[in-house]
Amino acid sequence: MMERDRRLAELVSGLSEETQAIRVGLDRTPEREHSEPIFTTSSFVFPDAATMADAFVNNSGLSIYARVDNPTVDGFCKRLAVLEGAEACEATASGMGAILSTLMAHCEAGDRVLMSTGVFGATLNLVKNFFIKYGLEIELLSPTDLGAWERALSRPAKLAYCETPSNPTIEIVDIQALSDLCRTNNCLFVVDNCFMTPVLQKPLALGADLVIHSATKYLDGQGRVLGGAVLGRADLVEPVTSFIRSGGVTMSAFNAWVFLKGLETLDIRMKAHSEKALELATWLAQQPQVERVNYAGLDSHPQKALIDRQMQAGGGVLSFTLKDGTREDAWSFLNSTCLMSLTANLGDVKTTVCHPATSTHGRLDESDRQLMGIAENMIRIAVGLESVDDLIQDCERGFSALIRSS
Ligand SMILES: Cc1ncc(COP(=O)(O)O)c(C=O)c1O
Repeated sequence: MMERDRRLAELVSGLSEETQAIRVGLDRTPEREHSEPIFTTSSFVFPDAATMADAFVNNSGLSIYARVDNPTVDGFCKRLAVLEGAEACEATASGMGAILSTLMAHCEAGDRVLMSTGVFGATLNLVKNFFIKYGLEIELLSPTDLGAWERALSRPAKLAYCETPSNPTIEIVDIQALSDLCRTNNCLFVVDNCFMTPVLQKPLALGADLVIHSATKYLDGQGRVLGGAVLGRADLVEPVTSFIRSGGVTMSAFNAWVFLKGLETLDIRMKAHSEKALELATWLAQQPQVERVNYAGLDSHPQKALIDRQMQAGGGVLSFTLKDGTREDAWSFLNSTCLMSLTANLGDVKTTVCHPATSTHGRLDESDRQLMGIAENMIRIAVGLESVDDLIQDCERGFSALIRSS
């Protein structure tokens, strides 16, 4: 290690998070590269049999095989762990890989899992269509009804799971209050922090046991690759690591490199997404065609006091419903826009728009969609980093289609 790097390593833990997001990660190799290297190799060699045995049998820390460890992936984990304030981090091939691995590692047949109704459609599909087959009991609860969680926790439960804000209804779970309830009742509490990222919300500091990410979203920030992560105390992440190594839902080195670069600009991007989303949400709320805007940055949000306590800003995602609107109206709006990308992804510098009832949540039963508050007249926008004036003009194109068709 160069003398300069040694000096930096000694002081990096005392630097601000903005700086750590750029400077924590991989040690520089003897090639003296400036940007982090990508280790595109499936396995690693050893100088002799004893060193190899030490790595395999005693976990000496030397890399073995890319399904098990890779320096670029480890660098991403180190950087994200610092930002989330986590003791340990494990990376996965996708956000769903992180959710699957967490449930596989911590639950067994007969366990009860409590889940917020406000979760990503595939998360609900995973538990309802697959984990149920292996004997998990799933109970769905409103993200905002703490009394219901308290009653549910009065019977033994293994794991409680939520996303906050919820997708796409932007309801907020009180992380601290639910953490306290879970701790009292000996239940593991897992929070998907994908919408906020550690820049805007820190679930572990509020008492959660594990944090999950779909890195595919804001951690990348430009819609390029899939990935996920699980973070928390080392003894809680270790079983997840063990499942990933056997189950093979590993993050690739290339994707880890993209996320390392994404983390370098996360702070500045999350603040900019939040500012632009607030401006667009404020404009949407004034439009005659709009029934209701769901955005965590608006003063009118019914959980404003909790938002101010728990989050640094509203983030980039908002949803709105059309006054007296139908599915056809929502589709007409979407079909008449052209700047916003018609796609289900979010967390991109490019603004995306979708109709949740027939896309992200389209494979759910109608009864589940109703339970989740996903109406046919609801549109979700994940605000990117384009000019808000241009986004407003695109929404005007969408609204003008409604006028023509009414
Ligand atoms: C909140 C949330 N969690 C998890 C996922 C799943 O992530 P991935 O698509 O990376 O598997 C998504 C995907 O949209 C999401 O929005």
